[in-house]
Formats: sequence, C-alpha cells, structure tokens
Amino acid sequence: MPEEFAIGIHDLSVATTRYVLTHDTLAAHNGSDVAKYHKGIGQRSMSVPAADEDIVTMAAAAAAPIVARHGVDRIRTIVFATETSVDQAKAAGIHVHSLLGLPSATRVVELKQACYSGTAALQFAIGLVHRDRSQQVLVIASDVSKYELGNPGEATQGAAAVAMLVSADPALVRIEDPSGMFTADIMDFWRPNYRTTALVDGHESISAYLQAVEGAWKDYTDRGGRTLDDFTAFCYHQPFTKMAHKAHRHLLHYCGHDADEDAITRHIGHTTTYNAEVGNSYTASMYVGLAALLDNADDLTDQAIGFLSYGSGSVAEFFAGTVVPGYRSHLRSDMHRDAISGRQDIDYAKYREIHEHSFPVDGGDHPVPRETTGPYRLAGLFGHKRIYEPR
Ligand code: HMG
Repeated sequence: MPEEFAIGIHDLSVATTRYVLTHDTLAAHNGSDVAKYHKGIGQRSMSVPAADEDIVTMAAAAAAPIVARHGVDRIRTIVFATETSVDQAKAAGIHVHSLLGLPSATRVVELKQACYSGTAALQFAIGLVHRDRSQQVLVIASDVSKYELGNPGEATQGAAAVAMLVSADPALVRIEDPSGMFTADIMDFWRPNYRTTALVDGHESISAYLQAVEGAWKDYTDRGGRTLDDFTAFCYHQPFTKMAHKAHRHLLHYCGHDADEDAITRHIGHTTTYNAEVGNSYTASMYVGLAALLDNADDLTDQAIGFLSYGSGSVAEFFAGTVVPGYRSHLRSDMHRDAISGRQDIDYAKYREIHEHSFPVDGGDHPVPRETTGPYRLAGLFGHKRIYEPR
C-alpha cells in the first residue's frame, strides 16, 4: 500500500477495572497448585469490575484520552465491539458517545462475533476511511469475561477495553492487505441470551483455535501475504497467555519451522505482559497485546507485526501491520502501566460478591455504590434504564 494511502491505528488506549483478583488468592481458595495458573495457563491475575463499572465505563475511560488528544471534529463513526452487551437493542457506543460529548452527526453501531469482532470493527473502519480520507473512526473493544464459579474457565476471566482511532496516515501501525479469513460452525464457547456466564468446552476450544490459525494463515498466504520470516512479532488473541504460545508453536510447525521456546518468546514475549495481569478481555485481548508490544519492545520502526484474531464459534483473521516511524512519541505506556499496577487487590469474598451480583428485573430504582476510581461510572438501573455519569 503506497505511503500516501496508508490507513491504520493512529492512537491506541487501554483501560481496565478498579479491582484485581490474583491467581494466588484464587488458588488458595480452590486448592489448585498456583503453578497451574502461573505456568500452565500463564496468568498472574484478573481484572474484576467494581459495582459501578462495566463495558461502557471501561470503553469511555479508554476513549476519553483519544478524544482529548485529537478532538471530535473528524470522528464520524464509532464502532463498538463486545460480547458483553448491556442491551439487546441499543448500541453500548451511544452511551460512550454521550459521555464523551461527541457531535450528533456521528454514526454509532455495535458488532458481535465473540472475541473476533474487535478486528471486524477495525477492518470496517479501514473501509470507511478508504472512502473518505478526512474521516476518523473510533473503534472500541470492551468486554468482561465471566464463567461460573468453579468452572475451569474461571481462572481465565478478566476485563479491559481498548480504544483505537483509525485514520489515514496513522501515527502507530499501518494495516495492510491482504487478510486471511477462516470460519467454521462450531460450539466451542457460547453464551445463550438467558445466561450471564459463558459455556465452554475448554479443550475443544483450544483445538478449534488452532484449526482456525491454520485456516486463516493458509488463506493469507494463498492471497499473496508475507512469509513467516518477514514478521518481527505476532499478536494473538489471548484467552490466557499460554494460548498465544500454543498458537504460535502450531503456526511455526505448520510452516515447517523449528518451534523452540526461544523463537516463540522472541516473537510473542512482549505481547503477553499486560494480558497475564488483566486476563481475557475477549474483543480487546489482541489489542491489549499490541499495546504491550508497542509499549515494551525495543524500537519496532518499520517492522512487520502479524495479527491473529480468533473468536469462538468460530471466525479468525490473519493480517499484517507495519510500525510507523516516530510511533514511540504517540504511545500511552505510562498510562497503561498505571492502569494495571493501580488496581486494588480484592479477597475471594469480595470477588464472589461481585461475581454473584445481578440487578433486580422489577423496573425499580437500583443505584449502585460509588466504587470506581475511573472517570465514568454506572449510576444504576432506574426504570430498566442504565444511567451513566462522569465520576
Ligand atoms: P483445565 O482443563 O482445568 O486445565 O483448564 P488443564 O488441566 O488443561 O491444565 C492447563 C495447563 O496447565 C496444561 O498445560 C497443564 O499441563 C498445565 P498444557 O498441557 O495445555 O500445556 N498444568 C500445570 N503446569 C504447571 N504446574 C502445575 C500444572 N497443572 C496443570 N501444577 C482450560 C484449562 C483452557 C480448558 C480452561 O481454562 C478453560 O476452559 N478456559 C476457557 C476456554 C478458553 O480459554 N479457551 C481458549 C481457546 S477459545 C478462545 O480463545 C475464545 C475465547 O476467548 C472466547 C471468545 O472467543 O469469545 C475463550
């Protein structure tokens, strides 16, 4: 893609929750060997939303610094990707639009396909900018991962939001053609409308993910994509960070390469640092990995990054991006590190109380306690309406 037509990620911002449950605390409660969590699945802790936090408050917290830096004049579209939707009809992005004071001349829509839809949002945004280079699209991916207490998936819960400003002549990462796509009708992980927790066939879901890696990569190379050796780093969807290791090992083997631990760590090491602390953030997860890579790796100028986005059910996409010269001066590394290190540790009892909380469905007034330290909060549910406010 010639430089003058480059489109990609112009700004990237990550937000997470007020609270954190460590895997030491979880293991002490359920009697697991903590090494299963730290080494076996590669997780240290999980973000847990406070009573007045959800996908909207995290999304607005992630997007606010972007709007503060770039203004609202060129943002004509918000695409909000989530599988933790707060309403079956209204797009969560409209709450964010309102909290951030965006102009009424804005298109707002919500997308769903498990963890994959953040990437669908990014690709749709690129299409819109292609049509009109003067426009910018605010892409938001925000999710809270929740399994039943005691389910093997419990240790892979987490929460985070990523906001990305997609524009022409991006300051961070140019996104390239082609993309490799893969879809298979499979029930590896799903959440029926009547449930608040996901259902999953854990081991089946790992096989499905690996099959999708192969399929998306094959389509990518069939369409004239780069070769494996062209890439400096790979960002994978990370339901738990060990999954990125498994996926990369699988891709290296599939391509006939040696899959020694050093090669895997060199390619994906930096991408797992934030995810190991926040847990699975579904749609946001791969882009949390990108933030960690850009924030923590040595200079990546002009280097190619491979992206493998996976969403159960299942859809996957492999695509490439190139890091733009000067990108480091546009990063929000300190903000990201502070968001993660500033979370407050909670004990198992508090985690359980939050996990079991649900609003009454009687249409009454149900304010929630003030807990978040973020810039926006959920004030409560009043007459079946979720009301948000600045903190
Ligand atoms: P499990 O079955 O309890 O764990 O839960 P396990 O027995 O398979 O052990 C996990 C790993 O820890 C294994 O390593 C063990 O050997 C190791 P592996 O063989 O896989 O390399 N281990 C230990 N290591 C060190 N010391 C020890 C020890 N004990 C065991 N003492 C499972 C694992 C992934 C099944 C569970 O966490 C789960 O169900 N998670 C949810 C589903 C999931 O994350 N699937 C991933 C692919 S699907 C996906 O990514 C999409 C998703 O994000 C949803 C979406 O798209 O919306 C989930």
